[in-house]
Amino acid sequence: MPSIAYVNGKFSPIEDAVVSVEDRGFQLGDGIYEVLRTYQGRLHAVEEHMRRLFRSLDAIGLKHAFTSAALEEIINDAVKRAGFTDSLVYLQITRGATKRAKVFPQAVPPTLVITVRKLELPTDAMRERGVAIMTADDIRWQRCDIKTVCLLPNVLASQRAAAAGCFEALFVEKDGTVNECASANVFIVASGVVVTPPLSTRILSGITREEVITLARKNGVPMEERRITLDDLLAADEVFLTGTTTEVLPVVKVNDRRIATGKPGPVTQRLHTLFRTLAD
Ligand SMILES: Cc1ncc(COP(=O)(O)O)c(C=O)c1O
Repeated sequence: MPSIAYVNGKFSPIEDAVVSVEDRGFQLGDGIYEVLRTYQGRLHAVEEHMRRLFRSLDAIGLKHAFTSAALEEIINDAVKRAGFTDSLVYLQITRGATKRAKVFPQAVPPTLVITVRKLELPTDAMRERGVAIMTADDIRWQRCDIKTVCLLPNVLASQRAAAAGCFEALFVEKDGTVNECASANVFIVASGVVVTPPLSTRILSGITREEVITLARKNGVPMEERRITLDDLLAADEVFLTGTTTEVLPVVKVNDRRIATGKPGPVTQRLHTLFRTLAD
């Protein structure tokens, strides 16, 4: 079966899968999600994704009876049914379907949706030449650490970036503090030190971000988690993004300003090679 969906216990082709018009995810954005991928059919970092999923559920007070083992079993079943070598797994849990009201409903079961599609990755040319990104005012809410389906600011920023031919939108605070991209974390390399913004409520704790930090430390690459300003980023020797599908992706242009030589740098390339060794 190609792209498939699982909705509250039922598998179907993705086109046939439906949720109620009263679903709180659809009406209120009252839900959370995770995105995982497989390498050669095997889920990558599934424990870390499950941990973040349960943290998001707790953070929005969504009552449920899911266990990580049960969810993993369904995901693995879905991946097997779809049968792709490399799959993109989307999992969403909302506070269920009921008459629209802002307050939490009582005794309404959550809606669980899982979809599995063929994974689409950045092209070899993007990896070899690097990508351009565009800055955007960070107008998101104050809990970007929760992986919520309320993504309108990310949608609008991503659309503006795409319209300008850019791969990603980079959220920057009014005071110049760099947070993260609409779907990825950001790193710079300055004077041989790899730097990324520290965890806070302004960024998502990316699984790939954590893997890259660990890899850098294990392999003797100087690594710091500290505030980065847009000026730091524009003056950096290298800039790269991390994410489940982006892995480690070089950035060579920000708002028409070239980063260093305008070519992917050696530290980015080394970290990507180390990451692939870990993932494959
Ligand atoms: C806003 C945001 N930041 C960072 C990431 C990267 O997280 P991960 O490495 O867990 O995919 C994502 C992933 O989609 C994201 O949406």
